[in-house]
Amino acid sequence: MKRTYIAEALGGENIDKEILVKGWVRTRRDSKGGFSFIELNDGSCFRNLQIIADADLENYQQEVIKLFPGSSISVRGVLVKSQGGGQSVEVKADEVKVYGFCNPDEYAVGKQRVSFERLREIAHIRVRTNTFGAVTRVRNKLAKATHDFFQERGFYYINTPIITVNDCEGAGEMFRVTTLDPAAIPKSEGNVDYSQDFFGKESFLTVSGQLGVECFACGLSNAYTFGPTFRAENSNTSRHLAEFWMIEPEMAFADLADDADLAEEYIKYLITTVLDECAEDMDFFNKRIDKTILQTLSHVKESEFVRISYTDAIDILNKSGQKFEYETVWGNDLQTEHERFLTENEFKKPIIVTDYPREIKAFYMKQNDDGKTVAAMDVLVPRIGEIIGGSQREDDLQKLDSRIKEQGMELEPYWWYRELREFGNVPHAGFGLGFERMVQFVTGMDNIRDVIPFPRTPRSADF
Ligand code: 4AD
Ligand code: MG
Repeated sequence: MKRTYIAEALGGENIDKEILVKGWVRTRRDSKGGFSFIELNDGSCFRNLQIIADADLENYQQEVIKLFPGSSISVRGVLVKSQGGGQSVEVKADEVKVYGFCNPDEYAVGKQRVSFERLREIAHIRVRTNTFGAVTRVRNKLAKATHDFFQERGFYYINTPIITVNDCEGAGEMFRVTTLDPAAIPKSEGNVDYSQDFFGKESFLTVSGQLGVECFACGLSNAYTFGPTFRAENSNTSRHLAEFWMIEPEMAFADLADDADLAEEYIKYLITTVLDECAEDMDFFNKRIDKTILQTLSHVKESEFVRISYTDAIDILNKSGQKFEYETVWGNDLQTEHERFLTENEFKKPIIVTDYPREIKAFYMKQNDDGKTVAAMDVLVPRIGEIIGGSQREDDLQKLDSRIKEQGMELEPYWWYRELREFGNVPHAGFGLGFERMVQFVTGMDNIRDVIPFPRTPRSADF
């Protein structure tokens, strides 16, 4: 018999028919009348399916009453309209087959509520909780919606390399990739001799797929990458991971305003999709995680994002009368406290801050005519702060070269990137959306470690 998933069973179309369902027991309750209620979950949706297991099942005494949370079973029986309140349909079991029992004294996510901190230590099994099931389904939907959004708009999906020799952000926060033996590093004139390393030169895990996507946009017009990126920054915050996923679209013949339009449209598309297609999971987040999340998302979906320059943002911060930990002087980067003040208190909706001082931004951003700022943008959203960073790209080779040198980097590794500016040069722009920050934003989850299956943070890379 073919398995029916619980999402479909709860849809009610198979009423009065025999079905076969499989999943993990969430709870079992024994009634005095000589039967048991089992709540079964198979991950296909948030809700459980109620099973009525009668005492006359042949394995009732031997097995059914030993089914504790976490046990895996299959149930064959007729799907009927439910007598009790709380659910619309239930299965009257004719057969309960046990795949695996689960010891209630040792099972970590049984009855009692377990803190998110504790769940991180048992990440292999936390997906069996309501919260992580819901996070996983929403994350999956956001990934699908991302591909739909860009595919509908003619962007090609590019897989950019994970191993690289370039530091895209120029921030020096890269993980080294090497096959050299740390106990016997080859040296030449006192320095490490990387010519003996696997690639014959220093190599790293990428911090961004942008430079590769730029090549493809400058030939196919529009492209995007969606891959893992790695940052060896020692940031222990609720919004930083050492390994995170990023979506990076890039458009040829586009400027910063086009870039901001795309970013706004994309974020709204993601929100609309999740609200429309993950209603049950979103209801759960709204009840149990953040009571304002549905309201916030509906509001963001309807809002026009504010666009202001960095210079105006600094002005607003200085006039706000608000006390900040970090100084708000022109030239300093905006800190999360500033970003959150602007988006949460001042404007109460997402804002796109543009034209940052060039000294605090990456080498590839287009310099503005004022000689002080670059055509950069950060999209800031309530609760998270920066969710997107992007820019128009520097297409003047001389200016690009001088920025690379100013940042103390060599021109040579960027020879191919620089060639894009020599052969059929075009204005182009793109951005990067931190995928986990987006999952955090739509679910209301507090900590970024709780929206990625197996988080990597400083001093923590288990599983
Ligand atoms: O602002 P960032 O560093 O921009 C880039 O990497 C560009 N190359 C993107 C581009 O223009 N193609 O990072 C982009 C986004 C941030 O806005 C943030 O959402 C996320 O990536 N991000 C992180 N997310 C989790 N953990 C970290 N350590 C992150 N660092 C950046
Ligand atoms: Mg940034």
